[in-house]
Amino acid sequence: MVIVLDFGGQYSQLIARRIRELKVFCEMLPYNTPLEQISAKNPRGIVFSGGPSSVYQENAPAVDPGIYSLGVPVLGICYGMQLMARQLGGEVSRAVQREYGRIELNTVEPDDLLCCLESLEQCWMSHGDRVDSAPPGFKITARTDLAPVAAMSDPARKLYAVQFHPEVVHTPKGQDILRQFLYTVCGCGGTWDMGSFIDHSMAEIRNKVGEGKVLCALSGGVDSSVAAVLVHRAVGDNLTCVFVNHGLLRKGEAEQVLTTFREQFKIKLIYVDASRRFLDKLAGVTDPERKRKIIGEEFIRVFEEESAKLGQIDYLVQGTLYPDVVESGTATAAVIKSHHNVGGLPKDMKFELVEPLCWLFKDEVRVLGSELGLPEEIVWRQPFPGPGLAVRIIGEITGEKLRVLREADAVVTGEIAAAGLDREIWQYFAVLPGLRSVGVMGDERTYAYTIAVRAVHSHDGMTADWVRIPYDVLGKISNRIVNEIKEVNRVVYDITSKPPSTIEWE
Ligand code: XMP
Repeated sequence: MVIVLDFGGQYSQLIARRIRELKVFCEMLPYNTPLEQISAKNPRGIVFSGGPSSVYQENAPAVDPGIYSLGVPVLGICYGMQLMARQLGGEVSRAVQREYGRIELNTVEPDDLLCCLESLEQCWMSHGDRVDSAPPGFKITARTDLAPVAAMSDPARKLYAVQFHPEVVHTPKGQDILRQFLYTVCGCGGTWDMGSFIDHSMAEIRNKVGEGKVLCALSGGVDSSVAAVLVHRAVGDNLTCVFVNHGLLRKGEAEQVLTTFREQFKIKLIYVDASRRFLDKLAGVTDPERKRKIIGEEFIRVFEEESAKLGQIDYLVQGTLYPDVVESGTATAAVIKSHHNVGGLPKDMKFELVEPLCWLFKDEVRVLGSELGLPEEIVWRQPFPGPGLAVRIIGEITGEKLRVLREADAVVTGEIAAAGLDREIWQYFAVLPGLRSVGVMGDERTYAYTIAVRAVHSHDGMTADWVRIPYDVLGKISNRIVNEIKEVNRVVYDITSKPPSTIEWE
């Protein structure tokens, strides 16, 4: 196992991810984790991440210098290298000129780490400070035009450091460098895989939860589903899932969740059909933010009522992913939409959280889900907002509009899947703008709903571009919707990106 000590760098989690890709198990810990705790884990190697601070500032993040004499190989990256240099007697100063972006790296003395590099290679830099002189015992292994020490090492003590970022794709040989560190320097075997992740997580969950009672708010989305199945493997019937149907789900979704969790996985699942209750609360409401607030609050009420019936609950499972952790850290971001997440916690409930996916990215969660035996439809399910179809119906929500939208959405998703596009497109769905227009069908005038089709490519939902869906697929979608749903006589395709639009219409 390898430990990544996090100094707050933008790419810290990417380091962990690259290490996992090289089939080495790794855990990320805060930089100030006590030394005893670090050595108790018996790591094969330690990586210091980058970070925004300057080592010569007062109270700059630092590690216990004892870490350098544990005999465990250390790789310092960016800030991590500056810290190593400073703590071991080298010199670090503010660079006259910052290095940012693609930079040419000149390897002057290849060592175990850099032996896979040609003498000139591209690398990715992002730093304002630089190491002016390497500490005693270190040799300088690479330079750039502006950095006299772009990489350094002391192989006798197994200490290595690079100023550039091997973890980003813009350092083409970065993964080779990490491989060298893990396999050659640390002697890791590269045998770790998702199966080992499952074993490790199960042990951790059991350790944390013991015989405690665990609750999971299941939404049917990938994250909460994978988290629930993983925790169930660890604690069995001490886990109870609550699945609240707010009546704003897609066609067939509730049924599928019930079948998968109750029948396939034999998980204790409380199903609450609260559709009526939500629809009553939403009657006459047209303002998007009000809708979201009502749904969020009502969800918490229902969830509270159900969990109260269960007696003492000690832990709550959440399918939080690493990007969620990062995003919720951006306290300064303006509220564009108040996101409601299934599992949004009542403030006065006293649970401890179990978040077994908090180090993973979405695609890793999908691999994990498959490994755990979840059906493809759940593993590959596109993101779906907590307030569900409510944010895809503009204006008041009624039973009729929900029915129309559900049918139209099933056509969109069905045709996208039939065209084999479902795994490449981030989100694709139907929207009911609530407007009616004139049409003609069978020589008769119609005055019926319009359906808007939305399909976007995105990496994280923060920005998105509309998808150039082939015309024949769009044509099929349109034909089927107007032919199969009598309340619809017009289909339009949304060709705006985010920004300036958002992905959802409300
Ligand atoms: P927007 O519409 O803000 O959506 O561009 C970005 C991503 O977030 C999803 N979304 C939500 N997810 N609760 C959620 O869990 C919400 O209230 C919510 N609103 C939007 C949206 O589907 C897209 O993936």
